[in-house]
Amino acid sequence: MFKILVKQELAPNIHLVKIAASGIAKKAQPGQFVIIILDEKGEKIPLTIADWDRKEGSITIVFMEVGTTTHRFATLNAGDSIESVVGPLGIPAHIDKIGTLACVGGCYGIAAIMPIARAMKEAGNKVITIIEARSKYLLYWEDELRKVSDQFLVTTGDGSHAPQGWISDRINQIVDEGDKIDLVFAIGCTYMMKTCSEATKPLGIKTIVHLNSIMVDGTGMCGCCRVSVGGTTKFACVDGPEFDGHQVDWDILLTRQKGYQDEEIRSLHEWESKNWRRIN
Ligand SMILES: Cc1cc2nc3c(=O)[nH]c(=O)nc-3n(C[C@H](O)[C@H](O)[C@H](O)COP(=O)(O)OP(=O)(O)OC[C@H]3O[C@@H](n4cnc5c(N)ncnc54)[C@H](O)[C@@H]3O)c2cc1C
Ligand code: FES
Repeated sequence: MFKILVKQELAPNIHLVKIAASGIAKKAQPGQFVIIILDEKGEKIPLTIADWDRKEGSITIVFMEVGTTTHRFATLNAGDSIESVVGPLGIPAHIDKIGTLACVGGCYGIAAIMPIARAMKEAGNKVITIIEARSKYLLYWEDELRKVSDQFLVTTGDGSHAPQGWISDRINQIVDEGDKIDLVFAIGCTYMMKTCSEATKPLGIKTIVHLNSIMVDGTGMCGCCRVSVGGTTKFACVDGPEFDGHQVDWDILLTRQKGYQDEEIRSLHEWESKNWRRIN
């Protein structure tokens, strides 16, 4: 069992959980993820390691409530335990001295991008961090990200935190103003990573994305997480999750993510109807 040390709601439906997991904390690298199972009846879900403390023996994850497992996870508190946490999984982010890079994040990616921005800054790069949210009230970790960035920009869809717009708008603006970006790292919802990749392609800026295809075993055995990159089938769990955004077939990924939508909706409705007392 893995004990929850800290549980905090960072923004509506976005939660931080710090878990005692010394073996994983010892080995975690930027860009890696864990697969958790909440209890003996739980399903496996992948979540990015947003931070770790090797001394304390803990890892931090930040998750968004989207379906049954993440809603169930949100009902746990500090002191509760999780059945299984497996990791670190996936190939770590490639950290190198490149020059100027933009680390961009939206939704859970605002936290997930932090270890990459930190490692890239430590490697001597100029790090421009850009985060986006639909509205100001969905932003979090601004101070944490500012600390690991040379330049820190926020953008919101409704303009409640100026300027109004999305990450792709900010990238275009930086380039229009004459600044050079050598590489973009993007983590967040699939649509954001797709639009970022579409914006950077004509600008000739290499763009690394962290794909979040649906996963089951996380070890390359089941094929559930398969994605098409440069016309070749890859398994996001073992070949990624980091891929070249200009080579990803985004339409296949978006279609496959919706593959179980009817079952996911039914499962959430059933869980909510059984647990309404607990969540209200
Ligand atoms: C490598 C990796 C790292 C991830 N890191 C994080 C993280 O740090 N924080 C976080 O909140 N989420 C992360 N995700 C996404 C997370 O795994 C899913 O949100 C979770 O599995 C949903 O489980 P659920 O039972 O709550 O929802 P489900 O019932 O499975 O799904 C509900 C809705 O979410 C959509 N959905 C399901 N799975 C995914 C997915 N993998 N990506 C996008 N949409 C999905 C479905 O289409 C459906 O509409 C990551 C995914 C991968 C593959
Ligand atoms: S999750 Fe099964 S092959 Fe990747």
